Amino acid sequence: MNTTSNNHFWKKDKEHFIHPYTDYATFKDEGSQVISKADGNYIYDSNGHKMLDGIAGLWCANIGHGRKDMADAIHQQITKMQYYNPFGHTTNEPAAELASKLAEISPGNLNHVFYTCGGSTANDIALRLVHYYNNLRGKPNKKKIISRNYGYHGSTYFAANLTGIHGTKDCFDQIAQDLVSHISAADMYRRPAGAENLTEQEYCNFLAAELENRIQQLGADNVAAFIAEPIMGAGGVLVAPEGYHRRCWEICKKHDVLFIADEVVTAFGRLGEWVASKEIFDYQPDILIVAKGINSGYVPLGAAILSSDIYDVISKPQSDGGVLSLGFTYSGHATACAAALKNFEIIEEENILENVRNLGPVLQDGAKELLTNPIVGDVRGKGFMLGIDLVSNKDTKEPLNVASRVFTKCMERGLVIRPIVNLIVISPPLTLTENDVQALLQIVNESIEEVYQEVSAEGLV
Ligand SMILES: Cc1ncc(COP(=O)(O)O)c(C=O)c1O
Repeated sequence: MNTTSNNHFWKKDKEHFIHPYTDYATFKDEGSQVISKADGNYIYDSNGHKMLDGIAGLWCANIGHGRKDMADAIHQQITKMQYYNPFGHTTNEPAAELASKLAEISPGNLNHVFYTCGGSTANDIALRLVHYYNNLRGKPNKKKIISRNYGYHGSTYFAANLTGIHGTKDCFDQIAQDLVSHISAADMYRRPAGAENLTEQEYCNFLAAELENRIQQLGADNVAAFIAEPIMGAGGVLVAPEGYHRRCWEICKKHDVLFIADEVVTAFGRLGEWVASKEIFDYQPDILIVAKGINSGYVPLGAAILSSDIYDVISKPQSDGGVLSLGFTYSGHATACAAALKNFEIIEEENILENVRNLGPVLQDGAKELLTNPIVGDVRGKGFMLGIDLVSNKDTKEPLNVASRVFTKCMERGLVIRPIVNLIVISPPLTLTENDVQALLQIVNESIEEVYQEVSAEGLV
């Protein structure tokens, strides 16, 4: 932790920057760690301490940091035309090119792109459009959205409501609560009551039945959409039982409920495919939500990609002089879209999807060895998405809330991970080499072992 009080950035930040997800129990004393430089798979703090970036910025730096080829592409676009109005019938070349490319790599008839500034705004826009779509279809009551506990869908007012990490909403108001209904997370490790001893297939049936029952309780005529991440990210890297997404999708189809795949984390290579829903989980979303890895976080960008069926309904003139009245100043921002095109080119030219397919199993299998440590209750994930669940007792699965201690020890050894209470989340750049993967695993192993020694001495386990 950087507590160098004479660091003027540290001081200015502490006094003026309200960070996302700040812990005010410690922030006013400790301030922030200032990260000054990022290069490839590594970052450097303001003291020059070099660390392997085990979280790719925040699930986004898929091609690695500080790339000159990306900087050149961005520079070229800025000097040609950094931005111009996207409203109405004006466009720019990178936005048009990228929309066509996104339609090409998205499965099925996901052919129409609404650009946003990030993931939360993409989810918000998607839901406004879903409601609009049902109004136009003559189904004005079909408005409720089913989401899942522990799902993360963002921080705008409505996206926060969709989010199922309920502790994040303490003391905040929640709008339109009647529009969102949460069901269980597809959590193989900590299951809901009644599902503890089921086989994987039975558990899948159990969760699917919960979704169908909820649709029936709410009334299919009132339910517009189901939203789910292919693998839950911020909720703890929760990997669903085999066949779960396909079953949920079939239930949605049966009840005329749209399936929104929130692939803000999983799209563009994190699981070794451009898009995970169809390729890995065998279902066809009606709306695909993307952001982050779309241009590896070089310039903010997100998108909601809609099926032709939805587009056909929302793209008709609704009234005399009526226009589709929503969107942002920065929808289809030329520089952000040019960065996305360059990002895709780099991913293709450097076989980055293949790198994840090759090294993902090395990361996942290597991490499974952590299970020999008495405080590691579960290790789960896929591709370059890894979650480590710390427990004080493997039988009761009681969470051991010491991830922040592991975080500190990893940093000292030259690795950044993401601590979430009892969970360690790892989501490195997709450009990691095998040596990087081995170094990461070794540092995590040593750091957890050191924390285990501490907590046993303290009598916590
Ligand atoms: C699955 C998912 N959806 C939506 C979001 C929100 O994206 P943003 O922070 O860009 O608004 C996130 C952010 O982590 C996410 O992980």
